[in-house]
Amino acid sequence: MSIRELDERYVAGTYRRFPVEIVAGKGSVVTDAAGKDYIDLGSGIAVTAFGAADDEWVRAVSEQAAKIQHTSNLYYTEPCARLAQQLCLRTGMEKVFFSNSGAEANECAIKAARKYAAERHGPEAYTVITLKNSFHGRTLTTLAATGQDRFHELFRPLTPGFVSVEAGDLDAVKAAAAAARPAAVMIECIQGEGGVIPLDPAYVRALRAWTEDNDVLLLVDEVQTGNGRTGKLYAYMNYGVRPDVVSTAKGLAGGLPLGATLLGEKVKDVFGPGDHGSTFGGNPVCCAAALSVLSRLDDALLDGVARKGRRLVERFTGAAGIRSVSGMGLMLGLATERPAGEVVSELIGRGVLCLTAKDKVRLLPALNIPDDLLERAAGTILDVCAGR
Ligand SMILES: Cc1ncc(COP(=O)(O)O)c(C=O)c1O
Repeated sequence: MSIRELDERYVAGTYRRFPVEIVAGKGSVVTDAAGKDYIDLGSGIAVTAFGAADDEWVRAVSEQAAKIQHTSNLYYTEPCARLAQQLCLRTGMEKVFFSNSGAEANECAIKAARKYAAERHGPEAYTVITLKNSFHGRTLTTLAATGQDRFHELFRPLTPGFVSVEAGDLDAVKAAAAAARPAAVMIECIQGEGGVIPLDPAYVRALRAWTEDNDVLLLVDEVQTGNGRTGKLYAYMNYGVRPDVVSTAKGLAGGLPLGATLLGEKVKDVFGPGDHGSTFGGNPVCCAAALSVLSRLDDALLDGVARKGRRLVERFTGAAGIRSVSGMGLMLGLATERPAGEVVSELIGRGVLCLTAKDKVRLLPALNIPDDLLERAAGTILDVCAGR
């Protein structure tokens, strides 16, 4: 059997894969089993922050793997403690809980909010208000948080206590809060899976003010937008607000599974021993990888992300076959005249890997993608969108 046949026979059918078997990569170029190279503008859905098999990342991971790969959370380890410190120093948050994925990072954020609200406002204050068109994960609770019914239908009953309201409408948040005492409001600053749609800055600031005034926690899901993706360390930093809880994953460890829930002043001590946990969370190899990634997300790198993003927006805006461009930094969505799926399939044939997000073509290249590769890939995208 070929690898494709084996996969289709034995791997649960939850993914619609592209007809490409990737066997290797270096930086922003990945290679398939037939030896064909592709410029990678997807980075494993915003995960390989510095591309494939990046030398520094490989060194950090291998050095830690050769020392010890896992200890359990019954013991202290240096990478976990130092990573938590770095995340707090870089954000002003106070404590970190480590898990393995974006969904788990959000689960922890929700548990923190519910415990805080129950202690402060009583057991009825458990509702989490989320936004329509959001995406927060695939567990039953994060599906409940996800404001898109198409993900819910086959899996009811979902965790109760979630309500979603239109993005950009603060009155809708107030109405939801009047109907059921909320613990938190949870947002993505840029809805990623929802089609790369940034929230309006005035709305985010007004929402932050309202949540503060009402002691409702603001949870910001930075699973996709975080770790340098938008040209700031976290996307909320583009909005001039500081959340109570930040959840992140994807690019944090540059290609290994690591989720982090950053707890601000109000919730820093909400968890005590036994309240939450994870066998693999804070694994030393993953944390060593993340420490290496984080140490490279300096001002020069972040400015480069913003500059590359602006350059792409310039090239794509008004181009033939492209209706609009959305997003920030190296998280961009193109509304194309041709169906996005068709554009992405044709791009694969021409050696460029992109993603879709709803009806958009989505670009999430490595943060350090060289300018020449990015220009070349952008040229191919322009050709395909224009039908050339
Ligand atoms: C904003 C957001 N939150 C949560 C998730 C879920 O992350 P994971 O697949 O790591 O559980 C995703 C994944 O795409 C996401 O984009």
